[in-house]
Amino acid sequence: MKILMIIGSGRRSGNTEQIGELLTAHLQQEARQHRVELEVETVYLGQQSFQFCRGCRVCFDRGEALCPLKDGALDLKNRMLAADGIVLASPVYVDDVSGLMKNFIDRMCHMCHRPQLAGKTAYAIATTGSSRTGKTLETMSMALRTWGCHLAGQTGFATGALMKGSEAKDRFDLQAARAARAIFSAVYRQAPHRPAFFSLMMFKIQQMSWRAKGKPGTLDFNYWQEQGWLDPKRTFYIDHEAGRLKTSLARLTGSILGKFVA
Ligand SMILES: Cc1cc2nc3c(=O)[nH]c(=O)nc-3n(C[C@H](O)[C@H](O)[C@H](O)COP(=O)(O)O)c2cc1C
Repeated sequence: MKILMIIGSGRRSGNTEQIGELLTAHLQQEARQHRVELEVETVYLGQQSFQFCRGCRVCFDRGEALCPLKDGALDLKNRMLAADGIVLASPVYVDDVSGLMKNFIDRMCHMCHRPQLAGKTAYAIATTGSSRTGKTLETMSMALRTWGCHLAGQTGFATGALMKGSEAKDRFDLQAARAARAIFSAVYRQAPHRPAFFSLMMFKIQQMSWRAKGKPGTLDFNYWQEQGWLDPKRTFYIDHEAGRLKTSLARLTGSILGKFVA
């Protein structure tokens, strides 16, 4: 089993990295208990040289392989594809994710049109001086869901300015253990997928949008068609066990909202 953790802080040995290490220790503990071989790979966005998205739209219209920025961002996408679970972790910077994390999310924007991570388990982590983990977690969770991921959960850690010594473990061991258990069991048990109301609704809106705007032959339309997602009976990227009432209500809400955006 492999979990890829992407740390969106430029500060080495900072709070986000320390929480990431605590989480990794608990993930390894879960793996040992279940006698599973686990690799946790950590990628520090601060050590990558990802350029800013130029907004050329080549990835949308002609394919991400033709992105003019050859700086390894697509390799990281491939590592997400190869992993069984993904963790995005960011410090709160002025009420939202760090610039490093936001740029990474922007660079993956082709997956908002073609959700290549459909069904993959993901988790969001935020660390903060004092507040606004909600907005920060929402930015990462929205991105993960839009890429097609199953969000196993999200946790905010009110770490303060900089944790020292054993502070991370002393203060956040229980929270990190809970988060690790949620990630591990979602990947390991492969529990039936029950998408959130929001995810089902967004699928319906996207389905309407590609049907209305998509032209056969365009990349997005073809992708959706190849996956079978344009079939009106299709209610999500992957087979799922969300309740019928929830699914129907989400699709109804999506079809109303979709009239304004599709
Ligand atoms: C540029 C910057 C902006 C920040 N903005 C906020 C903020 O809006 N709210 C808050 O509670 N903490 C804020 N903080 C504190 C960080 O969120 C917090 O210390 C975080 O855990 C740092 O993680 P790191 O050590 O991994 O970089 C900010 C810190 C920096 C450096």
